[in-house]
Amino acid sequence: MAGASGCKTLKRCSMNFPSPSIPSEPLSPAVRVRHLSLWYGAFQAMFDLNLEIKQGIITSLIGPSGCGKSTLLRSVDRINERLGTVRIEGTIEVLGHDIHGPDVALAPLRKQVGMVFQRPNPLPISVFDNVLFGHRLHRHPGLTVSPQEEAELVENALRTVLLWDTVKDRLHQKATAGLSLEEQQKLCIARLLPVKPAVLLKDEPCSALDPKGTAAVEELLWTLRGEYSILLVTHNMAQARRASDECLFLLMGRVMEHGETAQLFLAPTCPETADYIEGRYG
Ligand SMILES: Nc1ncnc2c1ncn2[C@@H]1O[C@H](COP(=O)(O)OP(=O)(O)OP(=O)(O)O)[C@@H](O)[C@H]1O
Ligand SMILES: [Mg+2]
Repeated sequence: MAGASGCKTLKRCSMNFPSPSIPSEPLSPAVRVRHLSLWYGAFQAMFDLNLEIKQGIITSLIGPSGCGKSTLLRSVDRINERLGTVRIEGTIEVLGHDIHGPDVALAPLRKQVGMVFQRPNPLPISVFDNVLFGHRLHRHPGLTVSPQEEAELVENALRTVLLWDTVKDRLHQKATAGLSLEEQQKLCIARLLPVKPAVLLKDEPCSALDPKGTAAVEELLWTLRGEYSILLVTHNMAQARRASDECLFLLMGRVMEHGETAQLFLAPTCPETADYIEGRYG
């Protein structure tokens, strides 16, 4: 089994999930997982995972159904814990900060780590209020944001996700009516941006979209790359190949291989990876 690749130099953050900056020293990993095992009740879903996700790139998580892709993703923003029956061992760090540390509250963690799901889930409120929802929720109670500043936040977020021209004349219409699935998914990504997360988790964000919508969301992911560290779960090998810098192959709750996407598809080191990417199972 190949070990995880990635940055070797770590920089611990002393603050509680500060906003990402561009340090002159080597970057700490966006996500660093050490000896992570996870159980749903008595069922063990992940086994001693060790991996490092680099900052500013897109990393695809691939593997057959049930291998633990969503479980790993949901562990990084601690959504799994809502189930109550989940137990973990090991550590997960985001930007060098232990997400299970005694000083960590869920709200700042969820500010730093944004999640996009398979099916777009805009709220049944206006496009404008959707984009500001997270920002209003997470902003400091003492912080005053003027209507003009809010309008700028909305416009910037919608421009970043390439949706501004489409929705600028219907900002105050309900987001759940009149937007295509592709537009809704872009809106769900826009909703995260005013909060300035460092890491974006995307669990099969294109699986409900047609080829045109898929291409549009992939293009968007590529534009977000650099500013954001993106973990992308996909079943689509062609998508992993064209839309990610690194690829991480999971099998039955274990990391089998992690490396540069081109290299992993060209010359995988594990026979299991070769069999999977060539479609012999999964
Ligand atoms: N809430 C849960 N309770 C019990 N077992 C679960 C739960 N969620 C996932 N599992 C199990 O954990 C394992 C990993 O599931 P997970 O959903 O992470 O896989 P996945 O790789 O995302 O699969 P898929 O490609 O089908 O989405 C599977 O065996 C699954 O049945
Ligand atoms: Mg899944």
